[in-house]
Amino acid sequence: MKILIINGPNLARLDLRDADIYGGFSYPELSDLVTKAAEKLGILVDIRQSDSESEIIQWLHEAADSKQPLIINPAAFTHYSYAIRDAVSMLKAPAIEVHLSNPLSREEFRHTSVVSGVVNGTIAGFGVQSYILALHAMQNLLN
Ligand code: DQA
Repeated sequence: MKILIINGPNLARLDLRDADIYGGFSYPELSDLVTKAAEKLGILVDIRQSDSESEIIQWLHEAADSKQPLIINPAAFTHYSYAIRDAVSMLKAPAIEVHLSNPLSREEFRHTSVVSGVVNGTIAGFGVQSYILALHAMQNLLN
């Protein structure tokens, strides 16, 4: 079973975002690093990105139907999308929320995650390592 990794809005343009916050690497580099780390762990991943709330919800419905484990960086949707929260809460397999930055050390509007309450756990603030730590955590949850 592949672990579904969903990245939310604006993450495909990581290289254009504040390098002090996001590390200055591009989305293809992020995707590559995560895929290679997964390979080393013997985990299959399906990494996707969308700027569309509706597309992300559709992917979450499919993951719920197929009982697929999820790692999600909902990006800005983290802070206000009750629709994504409700879709994540339908999942039957473990789900982990990740963030490159530490939203709690940033603007106040980022201090709320409407998703955190319906996932197994959240890993934030370690750049691309957040995803790799999430892969390790997922492996433990699945074993
Ligand atoms: C983010 C943090 C969010 O607040 C922000 O809107 C993002 C990226 C992160 O990975 O640090 O787009 O999810």
